[in-house]
Amino acid sequence: MKETIEKYLKEVEAFSAGNLEQLEQFRIKFLSKKGLIPALFSEFKNVPPEDRKELGQLINSLKQAVQEKIVALKTEIEQKSETTSTDLDLTMPVTDNLGTRHPLSLVRNEIIDIFSRIGFSVSEGPEIEDDFHNFSALNFPEEHPARDMQDTFFIEKDPDILLRTHTSSVQVRVMENTQPPIRTLSPGRVFRNEAISARAHCIFHQVEGLYVDTHVSFADLKQTLYFFAREMFGQNTKTRFRPSYFPFTEPSAEMDISCNICGGKGCNICKYTGWVEILGCGMVDPNVLEACDIDSEKYTGFAFGMGIERIAMLKYRVNDLRLYFENDIRFLKQFRSAY
Ligand code: DAH
Repeated sequence: MKETIEKYLKEVEAFSAGNLEQLEQFRIKFLSKKGLIPALFSEFKNVPPEDRKELGQLINSLKQAVQEKIVALKTEIEQKSETTSTDLDLTMPVTDNLGTRHPLSLVRNEIIDIFSRIGFSVSEGPEIEDDFHNFSALNFPEEHPARDMQDTFFIEKDPDILLRTHTSSVQVRVMENTQPPIRTLSPGRVFRNEAISARAHCIFHQVEGLYVDTHVSFADLKQTLYFFAREMFGQNTKTRFRPSYFPFTEPSAEMDISCNICGGKGCNICKYTGWVEILGCGMVDPNVLEACDIDSEKYTGFAFGMGIERIAMLKYRVNDLRLYFENDIRFLKQFRSAY
């Protein structure tokens, strides 16, 4: 028996396998139920007691040698097949599994791109704000209804800490830290305590624009926004300004564009008026400049703010705001763009 085991040991040592199939044959030969090693163990029962220790150790070392051989050869074969594998063709054209950007990111990037062509930079501010930056510095009187719990998510009271209700808070932060000339755009998320529906959401996105310098006039405001509207919605787009009210601008206006869906003829998107509202704007109120330590005798400025969801709805004809937040892949897959 001893000679047989030693013969097997030599065989195991010398064995090599070119593929997993050969290795499996090797395993079956030695380790399977009817293999050589189980046969040795059953023969072992007849071994006289004085030889048991030596032969027992020999059989065990044979078994260990077989197991170690299998592990070593398996790793070797797998590594070899990884480096020489030819079933991956790196020159194949990519099919339909490219990702797409979210439509709100596309529109935000396009807005930034349009304004950056006329010298606007991008600035950001915190989503958790204090009363000063969201309201007081923007000339909201103490009892203004926008401060009401209905619209604002308060986090703490006295002093008030809240989720910003608009990106106008970023204008204040920029003006506090920079002296004119200022030309900046502030995109970001805003929060309002609204019931979620097709036309309203408690989280949405805005882009704020601010331009402060000497001799900035309402004509500059109009021309800048006219440029934007035509770049965004096409060169035939018309604009009109309607008087409005915001605490932080004086005078204030809302800008409409000729309905890009029906071309101004009248449809249910523009409610048959031919016009759709896209943003609020105005000349920065001197009180706001002063609250930010900017000399309102020397400087004037304009500001505007628009909802990214609204622009995206008009651009992509999306009729339900909730689609932007549901992450339905069938919706998201439709948006491909240079931005
Ligand atoms: N902050 C306003 C809002 O959330 C939008 C806005 C209107 C911003 C007029 C402006 C502006 O800068 O001049 O509804």
